[in-house]
Amino acid sequence: MALDGLENNDLKLIIFGGKGGVGKTSCAIATALALSENFKTLLISTDPAHSVSDCLEQQIGFKVVKVDGTANLYAIEVFADEALSEFKTEHQGELKKLLETSTNLDNEDIDEMLTLSIPGIDEVMSFKTIIDFIEEGNYDKYVVDTAPTGHALRLISSPKLLDGWIKVAARMRWKYRYMITSFSGSYKQDEVDAFLLSLKKTVKRIENILRDNTRCEFIPVCIPELMAISETGRLLADLGTSGIISRQIIVNNVMISEGCDFCRRRKAGQLPYLQEISETFSNLNKVEVPMFAEEIKGLEALNQLRMCLFEDKPINQ
Ligand SMILES: Nc1ncnc2c1ncn2[C@@H]1O[C@H](COP(=O)(O)OP(=O)(O)O)[C@@H](O)[C@H]1O
Ligand SMILES: [Mg+2]
Repeated sequence: MALDGLENNDLKLIIFGGKGGVGKTSCAIATALALSENFKTLLISTDPAHSVSDCLEQQIGFKVVKVDGTANLYAIEVFADEALSEFKTEHQGELKKLLETSTNLDNEDIDEMLTLSIPGIDEVMSFKTIIDFIEEGNYDKYVVDTAPTGHALRLISSPKLLDGWIKVAARMRWKYRYMITSFSGSYKQDEVDAFLLSLKKTVKRIENILRDNTRCEFIPVCIPELMAISETGRLLADLGTSGIISRQIIVNNVMISEGCDFCRRRKAGQLPYLQEISETFSNLNKVEVPMFAEEIKGLEALNQLRMCLFEDKPINQ
């Protein structure tokens, strides 16, 4: 079987996820390469390990660059801390005013508070960056490579987290608003209210696209090994509770060769797991990728992988 349906014009966001080392980065890049033949494609890595640069053998960073040797593929590695500091710089005024008007903190405390790291902020910022790109609309397809499972799940649940923070901030503001109204009789919305409202809209936009199966697809990558299968099962269950349903799964590193005793034994060892994958994920389109003799590095190897994922068929518009 081959990956299918990715050419659908409505489908914008394709996210790869799974256990560490199963081939997410390789498959995300190979898919982006295939799509870029007919669609202007942006590959976005949210993995702090930034293996996209290694795999493409080209330095990618926190700025969109054209991938060498391709006509229509662009890539960026999202550095969550840089995304956060850009956000803080852009909204420093609103953030400070929020704290000034709804806490008893003095200026020094506020400055210190704004430098503190907040759990989950990395994923929120990474996802916000992705959504901003999609809304700018400069590309036809956005392919996202994530870090291992936990990170992908946190990325997916980032709107919920952001929503929780907005609620706390709105409650803090409510007290302030109540006070102003009691003293002066009326309250006029200010830039902090507008800021909170725009954040709330971001949450809605992220949720809407994630839950929309026509605009967003999550592709799990698995290998025929016990731990990878269990982790994929949990990942799919957790995604399901967030309203994200996968249609297809990549089963990577499948032993094909029987040329030597070692290969025969590896192949025989994988058989029960391949069987288990078929049974456990019977509702998904399965795309098997053979174990290559060498690691997947550079455009030539990535194109080999691309051929396996798409059975050498071009993805037409
Ligand atoms: N089908 C394959 N055959 C051989 N090596 C592979 C295959 N798929 C991935 N690899 C190699 O396995 C390592 C991990 O792959 P990678 O795509 O970085 O996984 P992940 O992003 O899930 O951590 C890399 O060195 C990659 O080149
Ligand atoms: Mg990776």
